[in-house]
Amino acid sequence: MSCYEVKKFAVIGAGNMGSGIAQKIATEGLPVVLVDLDDQKVERGMNIIREMLQQGVERRIFRPEKAEAILANITGTSDWTQLGDVDLVVEAVFENLDVKRQVFARLSEVTKPTCILGTNTSSFLVKDIASAATNPERVVGLHYFFHPAKNRLVEVIAHEGTDPAAYSAAWAAQEAMGKTPIDSADAPGFVVNRYFVPWINESVRLLEEGIANIATIDWAAKKAFRIGMGPFELMNVTGVPISMHAANTLGQDLHPFYLSADALTEQVESGRGDWEVEGDIDESKLDAVADRLLGVVFYVATQLIDEGVSSVEDTDIGARVGLRWSMGPIQLVNRNGADRARSLAEAITSKWKLAMPKLLAEAPADGIPIQLVASGVRGSMASVWINRPDAMNALNPDVGAQLDAAMQGAYTTGKGVMLGGNGKAFIAGADIKFFVDHLRANTYDNIQNFAAHGHEILNGMSAASVPVVARMQGLALGGGAEMALGCDWIVASSKAMIGFPETGIGIFPGMGGTQRLTRRVGAPLAKYLVYTGQFVDAKSAMKIGLIDAVTDFAGLDATCESYAAAGKAPERVAPNTCPDAKWQAIWDFFASYSVDQMLNGEAKTDGNPVLDKAVKTMGFKSYNALKVAENLINEGALLDLPAALACELRDLRAAFTHADGIEGLSSMIEGRRPSFQAPARV
Ligand SMILES: NC(=O)c1ccc[n+]([C@@H]2O[C@H](COP(=O)([O-])OP(=O)(O)OC[C@H]3O[C@@H](n4cnc5c(N)ncnc54)[C@H](O)[C@@H]3O)[C@@H](O)[C@H]2O)c1
Repeated sequence: MSCYEVKKFAVIGAGNMGSGIAQKIATEGLPVVLVDLDDQKVERGMNIIREMLQQGVERRIFRPEKAEAILANITGTSDWTQLGDVDLVVEAVFENLDVKRQVFARLSEVTKPTCILGTNTSSFLVKDIASAATNPERVVGLHYFFHPAKNRLVEVIAHEGTDPAAYSAAWAAQEAMGKTPIDSADAPGFVVNRYFVPWINESVRLLEEGIANIATIDWAAKKAFRIGMGPFELMNVTGVPISMHAANTLGQDLHPFYLSADALTEQVESGRGDWEVEGDIDESKLDAVADRLLGVVFYVATQLIDEGVSSVEDTDIGARVGLRWSMGPIQLVNRNGADRARSLAEAITSKWKLAMPKLLAEAPADGIPIQLVASGVRGSMASVWINRPDAMNALNPDVGAQLDAAMQGAYTTGKGVMLGGNGKAFIAGADIKFFVDHLRANTYDNIQNFAAHGHEILNGMSAASVPVVARMQGLALGGGAEMALGCDWIVASSKAMIGFPETGIGIFPGMGGTQRLTRRVGAPLAKYLVYTGQFVDAKSAMKIGLIDAVTDFAGLDATCESYAAAGKAPERVAPNTCPDAKWQAIWDFFASYSVDQMLNGEAKTDGNPVLDKAVKTMGFKSYNALKVAENLINEGALLDLPAALACELRDLRAAFTHADGIEGLSSMIEGRRPSFQAPARV
């Protein structure tokens, strides 16, 4: 078991970044100490947080009580002795190497030896800061993005001496903070700034070369990268000098190509301040601008991957999550086609006498492979990780194919397998757009094949000789909950939420959900969960046997390992009494009445508000889906699991191709309430 367990946090520096990082930690319900040079500076940081929270209350993002609870998690102080029991420190002081090194030397003295020390530096190497600590093996880089309470991305950086256990614990702590972590080597600009800074810089070069004016460059960049702000607008927001400094730092560390464009240096040195972004847009310049910016991104992104700074997948996630580009650099390479991408990058490499990165030079015509599912080792277990954090790890046929292959590979290691998801969600269901596209194109068989393949993967988990443990760190909805149910064991964080929302979109849990759920919690509670779509938190799920263990984030991996050590799960037999007294009324009600009786008002709730609410909620669901689910739960209870699962697959078509299926699924992607067919009253 790791000696690093992160439960309590601290942030050093209560400025723009530090205050936001502390706010985010506190928002996730975690305790954090916020330190600055003196009480006045601490108070200034606390006021930044109070203002942000007040805005959140005014915009009804949360209630005033929630804002108070968040503030109560933050201890502002200038007293460093308060750091003695902290498990992870994020340093966010001025970007000055001497100041940062002094802070790390002091942190070495006041923190316990198992406290992880993270730096939020943007421009220094982590190792140059770590060497000021007495035990640099516990130092990592934690590079957040502005605004750190809103932007989910964080780059997690190990320097050459970082203890892998400290790195893993720091990573898990980012998950606990609700962040989307990506891995970066300790290299100039890490991942995202490495291509983002040259992208900004190239936009100034386009201006100084007279290719287009500022308004046109911003417009073309927004169109090409499908983003809300162009490079000049962005520079104005973050401060123009920061862009110049960032470019020069990369230029000094890497190559003159990265050095600040002359016009950018001049803008700063002349003291002109912000760019004048208003002007006439010349639409004929779209390609000239877009191609240059794309060429820069293609060159830099593939170069950094070649250097081993990050993976293809994390490089793309960084752009989508951190910069909110609709596609990452490698997806853009693939969309443009390898030949065109190479020729756009060639315009940059030939001008600057740079070598074409191998990844781009050898990119196959059908694109650079992007792994949606990552395999590896995690502690004593093999790990299989769904890596689509910005799509909440939703399942689709590509994910299914890669998941299948990854699971097969993991089984051959002989180790227990940990199935996880990157980011805030474990797996938030299936890709609804995939369903809608095939229903509209009248190609339903693709949906049936997708579900059947899902069944095969789940059956494979039971058949595997090694135990499979779901590491459910966050939301598990629909197909995601069903994936977990197929594992031998489910270990959840206290933040996990489980739900089966399918009947609200015209379908039913069709990847084993109606059957495996029943065998975990009993038919009455399975009916309640499937008919109402009610989300269950991890603690309640544990009480009714839906999952096996709940732990905080720090204990997730170790708990998964202990369940894997217990071996394969025994065959699950549906309980025939209510597993928890608090659920007794729900159990009795759903055991006694049919869907029709409940919807016709024949079922007696005896004024129980939970039951009244359940019945009311069912009125908004698809009647067709409710009936199909009811039949399946009743029929499956009399069969063995394989036969019951076959019934589920048999009935999929009846739900998906019913008018309610098409309506419910379409309403979901169109962001509106569904309008289902009225029940044929009995
Ligand atoms: N601003 C961004 O967009 C951004 C993005 C990513 C990373 N960063 C990095 O985050 C760090 C902080 O940036 P910022 O924009 O929040 O700066 P800032 O100037 O707003 O805040 C720095 C804070 O650190 C405090 N401080 C300075 N020395 C200290 C010490 N010895 N002990 C305790 N507190 C001390 C200052 O009083 C100040 O409140 C920098 O390393 C920066 O490169 C910034």
